[in-house]
Amino acid sequence: MTKPRLWITRRLSDATLERAARDYDVVINHDDQPGTAEQLIAGSADFDAIIPCHSEHFSADVVAQFANRLKIVANHSVGVDHCNLPALKGRGIAVTNTPDVLSDATAELAMLLMLGAARHAVAGDKIVRTGAWDSWSPAFMVGKQVTGARIGIIGMGRVGRAFATKARGFGMEIHYYNRSELPADQAQGAVYHDNVESLLGVADFLSLHCPATPETTDLMNTEQLALLPLGAVIVNTARGALVDEDALIIAIKTGHVAAAGLDCFKTEPGGNPAFAAYENIFMLPHIGSATRQTRDAMGFRALDNLDAFFAGKTPRDLL
Ligand code: DGY
Repeated sequence: MTKPRLWITRRLSDATLERAARDYDVVINHDDQPGTAEQLIAGSADFDAIIPCHSEHFSADVVAQFANRLKIVANHSVGVDHCNLPALKGRGIAVTNTPDVLSDATAELAMLLMLGAARHAVAGDKIVRTGAWDSWSPAFMVGKQVTGARIGIIGMGRVGRAFATKARGFGMEIHYYNRSELPADQAQGAVYHDNVESLLGVADFLSLHCPATPETTDLMNTEQLALLPLGAVIVNTARGALVDEDALIIAIKTGHVAAAGLDCFKTEPGGNPAFAAYENIFMLPHIGSATRQTRDAMGFRALDNLDAFFAGKTPRDLL
């Protein structure tokens, strides 16, 4: 039997690429550049399946130009805001993602960003690294302690819950907003807020874990930021679309928001150059899921979905 023809748009983990080469007639973008609209359109005529990352954009306009060969887009990501799902489904193309497997890695990075933002990681590293550290004082680089503080979590899905588990280990009081209240075994004592505004009012620290949708775009805008307690710290490992970046800069400038830890930006790659002026904004380049273990697990999960699809079964992560 001929193997399905698969295009892998980016340099996935070695173990993933080996398994893909064993089971599929695979073409890999070894130059690791994001697939362009033109390449996606051409790919829809040449391949039965694509494993893309969040760097490939399946807009309605692109999907409308697809040929009829492509049957499945098996994303190597949990987020699917780069895919116009109605357009893909309308063309009869199955779409899957990779939930679960990246929750711990992303939650770990959220902890890093929260702690780093709260404890002057950028300024502290800089002063030591540049040789400018020439004195010490009890008033020097005094930060905000997480132990005993209230953490507000927006989006208590898998990543939000993994983050809550880690925050609990730091002795934080967990509050959350979610579309629906979690059962007690999942909430583990976390306090439910049935609206974002109520959560923001108690969030000494705030961590975003909801998907980017038209409803959540600029969720953290001027009005919402103003609801946070004075000196709050914001962490975003979800998507840049959730934060109005101009409003965040104003909140940082006034001190209403003491610090931010950001792994996601409106413009990626690149980020927001205006943030660079503020050492209390601790930034990383969208690497929440970037551990060896998680990259293998994401690749394998995408391949599991493809295997099921081509075996005539419903893929576990069919959207
Ligand atoms: C995801 O899986 O959505 C991460 O942001 C990496 O793409």
